[in-house]
Amino acid sequence: MKGAPSTNRLEPQAPRVIALLNQKGGVGKTTSTANLGAAFALAGLRTLVVDLDPQSNLSLHFGHEPAPDQATVRDLFMNPEVDASQLIREARANLWFIPSDTELALVEGELALIPDMQHILAQRMASVMGSFDVILLDCPPSLGVLTVNALTIADEVVVPTQAQYLALRGLEKLLETVLLVQRALNPKLKVAGVLLCMHESQSSHGKAVVEEMDNYFSSFRGSDLPWQDAIVLRPAVRRNIKLAEAPSFGQTIFDYAPTCAGAADYRALAEALRARWKPLLSDPALVATAGTTAL
Ligand SMILES: Nc1ncnc2c1ncn2[C@@H]1O[C@H](COP(=O)(O)OP(=O)(O)OP(=O)(O)O)[C@@H](O)[C@H]1O
Ligand SMILES: [Mg+2]
Repeated sequence: MKGAPSTNRLEPQAPRVIALLNQKGGVGKTTSTANLGAAFALAGLRTLVVDLDPQSNLSLHFGHEPAPDQATVRDLFMNPEVDASQLIREARANLWFIPSDTELALVEGELALIPDMQHILAQRMASVMGSFDVILLDCPPSLGVLTVNALTIADEVVVPTQAQYLALRGLEKLLETVLLVQRALNPKLKVAGVLLCMHESQSSHGKAVVEEMDNYFSSFRGSDLPWQDAIVLRPAVRRNIKLAEAPSFGQTIFDYAPTCAGAADYRALAEALRARWKPLLSDPALVATAGTTAL
């Protein structure tokens, strides 16, 4: 396996697979995938991040420039001879990634012609899943075939967003798609919640929208919907210019400015997400950090 972790485990375990999804562009999906991935890796979890976006911005956070002859996630979708182990590259200690390329945009149309196209990612990733503790999927800003493939292998969906009124309306459309996939393809799929990115806690509009989001999710407790336990994830990630600067240096926030607010927010968020994973709930230190930071 090229650059991928050697697994010393006697029995490979299922990783936690998280799709970062919002059909709206520019909301913080890629920034969150790269930096949450780095935070999980620093916490000792073997972490794989997969770039499912033809814009292929994710690799830039790790200092990886796309090369014309490199194998990418496009090969994974289009070439049955390829499996994920051939594509994995090492980014940092405990952190690996699968790059994308701009031609992935063509895949959406071509995939529509392939039978069982919703399961391609699941099939081609199967051999590497057991090598990781966490897999993060950076989805494109659409609800097309690539996103459906991500939802078919995900355990949970995290929705990066801003605290704006229109975001709530987009959320309903996204949840409809999640429900369709959960019912037809992936019964274990759940929505973890929304992740507020570029958050400005002082804005009164923002505060009102966060309250509305809290109430919206609370209204589904006890339902059988995949977002019955969803929350507004805490902490919110504050607007922090260092998060925008880091990829231009090929760095995650933990390389570039490890003591800045953006690094603190992603570190705390990674802990809060972990605390919600059932097998880890027995770790009191993690539970204590979950959901305690005010927005
Ligand atoms: N907390 C933050 N503070 C400041 N800038 C941020 C923050 N989070 C993200 N950004 C910047 O906002 C822009 C959009 O972020 P990002 O690329 O992560 O969004 P995206 O949802 O992945 O976009 P796309 O839908 O195009 O893939 C980028 O320039 C990024 O550097
Ligand atoms: Mg992106």
